[in-house]
Amino acid sequence: MALFLSSCGSNTTENSEETTAPLNQEEATNDVGIVTVYSHRHYDVDKKIFTDFEEKTGIKVMVKEDKASKLIELIAQKGDDADVLITVDVARLEQAREKGILQPIESEVITGRVPDKFRGSENHWIGLTKRYRVLAYSKERVDPEELTTYEDLTDEKWMGKIAVRSSDNTYNQSLMASIIANSNQDEATKWAKGVVSNFCRSPKGNDRDQVKEVAAGRADIAIINTYYLGKLLNSENQAEVDAGNAVGLVFPNYEDRGAHVNISGAGVCTNAPNKENAVKLIEYLLSDEVQAMYSAANYEYPVVEGVESSELLQSWGTFKEDDLPLEEIGKLNSTAIAVFAASGWE
Ligand SMILES: [Fe+2]
Repeated sequence: MALFLSSCGSNTTENSEETTAPLNQEEATNDVGIVTVYSHRHYDVDKKIFTDFEEKTGIKVMVKEDKASKLIELIAQKGDDADVLITVDVARLEQAREKGILQPIESEVITGRVPDKFRGSENHWIGLTKRYRVLAYSKERVDPEELTTYEDLTDEKWMGKIAVRSSDNTYNQSLMASIIANSNQDEATKWAKGVVSNFCRSPKGNDRDQVKEVAAGRADIAIINTYYLGKLLNSENQAEVDAGNAVGLVFPNYEDRGAHVNISGAGVCTNAPNKENAVKLIEYLLSDEVQAMYSAANYEYPVVEGVESSELLQSWGTFKEDDLPLEEIGKLNSTAIAVFAASGWE
């Protein structure tokens, strides 16, 4: 696998490991072919998955890593080499479709393995993994029976107790889109104002930082994506492991609409020079084997039904998942941003 022109955006507040390797022209032009992936995923397991794919097929995987917004802009302007776009949130996939840089995927293997709600209605994009935006609560100070829904977050008993990242983060925007879709813009604005009034401090940091606020006693509840708890619990840094152990998870709204689910997903680029290889790669990413790797090594839930999630994820229990098609969440992204602005959620 060759990683080129890589730069995880320094302000993504995610893992930002800079790696640069030149594009190997010899590899790029060999007989077996290549596939060029523009990816916002920045996880070690992806490197292993792409290397395995190369070994199995002989197809070289060229990877350009960056923030999705930057990759989309690049592809729209001059990314003629891009075959596959991979993002960590549905809103960016839908944005890419709107910009005309994705084409419908024609593969029965792919459409057969990804449930309808996790695909664009014309298959311009599909989910690869699922991640839930949930509530991490202090095991010491919170009775989870008092905190069963996203709506509970506005209760004044949590005043000064909620830690969350900023509203320019797409995970928060997609959560907000799900609140809007399940109620309306006015209700969502009221909800957001209620949550803001319970903030422990102005939003900052990434999801892991919110859990650390809870572990340090400066907050009781953190809003996070599920896999970040897996990352903390498996960290080489003992303080992170301790922070992870200080919290339990509530998958909200288990008695009504279910927990908000988002995807990390992929699309085939409109001008993909290696379209056939692009489809082959995405088919491989949806294989039982890779789905299980995403779950074991990156603590994400498989999008393919019938593939079991890892033991750690199973230990978090069973729960209900929101049935909303992810496309609706993508389409509500700009409304979600407007609601955040109206509510004072920085
Ligand atoms: Fe993330």
